[in-house]
Amino acid sequence: MAALDELFNAAREAQARAHAPYSRFKVGAALRSADGTLHAGCNVENAAYPNGICAETAAIAAMVLAGGTRIAEIVVIGDGDALVTPCGGCRQRIREFAAPDLPIHIAGPAGMRRSFTLEELLPFSFGPDHLAQEPRE
Ligand code: THU
Repeated sequence: MAALDELFNAAREAQARAHAPYSRFKVGAALRSADGTLHAGCNVENAAYPNGICAETAAIAAMVLAGGTRIAEIVVIGDGDALVTPCGGCRQRIREFAAPDLPIHIAGPAGMRRSFTLEELLPFSFGPDHLAQEPRE
């Protein structure tokens, strides 16, 4: 199976497992880490609404737990007419583990819809490299 098909299928399976009783908007995410392993996540909502987490955040947590340090490619899948692009907070969480040219593929029920780079979705971003610099006088 092609690498992207595999990611799409993992994201779709994750979407089906979402806990989204409040928004009724199920999202799945699947990423391939630089070490070649796949990690998926779904949104997990909460009765205390702000405590819900996004699918992308769950997938990143799964990658980190497995020892992954870099995201090579990520697919996000959601329903509806509009593209389900990562929210602002998730763009920043993805940034922590990815280069500006990271491909972010947005899918719907019928398949892949559109691909972006991280830089397109989060231009002029702040990342770990900023903190690694020597402080200036
Ligand atoms: N959501 C995600 O999981 N990922 C996205 O990229 C967009 C939004 C979730 C958060 C919430 O559980 C639901 O979708 C509606 O906002």
